[in-house]
Amino acid sequence: MTRRRSWAEPWKIKVVEPIRMTTRGEREAAIREAGYNTFLLRAEECYIDLLTDSGTSAMSDRQWAGMMLGDESYAGSRNFYALQDAVRTYYGYEHLIPAHQGRGAEHILSQVVIKDGDFIPGNMYFTTTRLHQELAGGTFRDVIIDEAHDPASEKAFKGDVDLAKLRALVDEVGAERVPYITVGVTVNLAGGQPVSMANLSEVAAYCREHGILVILDATRAVENAYFIQQREDGYAQKSVARILREMCDLSDGATMSGKKDSLVNIGGWLGVRDPQIAERARNLVVVYEGLHTYGGMAGRDMEAMARGIVESVDDDHIRARIGQVEYLGNALIAGGVPIVRPIGGHAVFLDAAAMLPNLPRDAFPAQALAAALYVESGIRSMERGAVSAGRDPTTGEHRFPALELVRLTIPRRVYTQAHMDVVAESVLEVLEQRDRMRGLAFSYEPEHLRFFQARFETFGGDGIFA
Ligand code: F0G
Repeated sequence: MTRRRSWAEPWKIKVVEPIRMTTRGEREAAIREAGYNTFLLRAEECYIDLLTDSGTSAMSDRQWAGMMLGDESYAGSRNFYALQDAVRTYYGYEHLIPAHQGRGAEHILSQVVIKDGDFIPGNMYFTTTRLHQELAGGTFRDVIIDEAHDPASEKAFKGDVDLAKLRALVDEVGAERVPYITVGVTVNLAGGQPVSMANLSEVAAYCREHGILVILDATRAVENAYFIQQREDGYAQKSVARILREMCDLSDGATMSGKKDSLVNIGGWLGVRDPQIAERARNLVVVYEGLHTYGGMAGRDMEAMARGIVESVDDDHIRARIGQVEYLGNALIAGGVPIVRPIGGHAVFLDAAAMLPNLPRDAFPAQALAAALYVESGIRSMERGAVSAGRDPTTGEHRFPALELVRLTIPRRVYTQAHMDVVAESVLEVLEQRDRMRGLAFSYEPEHLRFFQARFETFGGDGIFA
């Protein structure tokens, strides 16, 4: 018999927040009231909330202690300098432009660098990032490798940029119309998939040669660094902190949502090396976010993020964080649930198209599956398929991405292994009832980022289950 050697989280629980299970009748009413959109549920109506890992982390005692050291001066708060030091040390960007969250930084960067008619390549789109590029007059082009669009491909670095696609774009439109490439590390909508250091180096070398900036979406860069440590030759002995720095050193800047890796509830930044871009960004940040030494964050928020950055790169922390996601993913695989492989960094992604082959794509199977999982179990998840992809700005048609997914996103340091067991069992229960599930049609469709506030009706009768 082989002896099992378990490991456990490198923390213990000091404060608890009660959660409440609801009845099935309550949940049926709640999801109908929410227009079958999990974003429109009240949090108190959810039992295990896996909507997102964004801003939902549990802060440590040290971070909470740091909140009491908030210097709420309008200008030049000491907490800004603490944050600047942490970003310089762990990410290596000289100039820090603080923002209220990631999309604030994306907005500033897009307005500063993109000219009307420019093209911005990226390794798969992200909702807010692409919209800010479009609003600044740019056109997004997907240059991720083909395997990223295949949920079953087991490739270790499914987030990699396809250099041939990048070259083809630059040859087609000219390097002068490509101000920068966004490299998401990890790639959220591909299933939390990482980019290899080898690929990042190649992208950086190509872009340097053509005068194109490399901007990381560093939102989950620590998780990416962990995958490099685990999977890429030559990195097993290096710390996650060192790998993170090596990744950032290949780039010219980054946008960051501190609400993920950095273990805080709010905050973000733009980090760059070029002093001229920094100056233009500082000029704009005062228009949209706040003074250039707080950018929409309170002093205490900046202190919590400075401390969160240090905790985030701890090898034990990140192993436990991703280990929990893998635990859930492996439980689902064992139960025969089709999920995106390999298991990603921040979430397990259910392959809704494979789970519900009878529902056509324009009946939004992932949206329906998220609603059904909620009704069955009180677990809140998020659609990441055609609803999230929105409409093509030129043709006005729905964009149907290859991936039609439901994301079970794991907040950091919040739930236990027992919660993960309940989640896996609940997904299996829904899978057994898939033949009774109804599709959805829009009853209200907002113009921008429609997934947040859209409302739906069920086809062929009331209720998500027939
Ligand atoms: N980039 C990535 C890869 C993200 O996942 C997010 C947010 C952002 C940028 C924008 O950051 O929310 O701070 O403005 N993702 C959240 C999610 C909303 O649930 O995946 P933000």
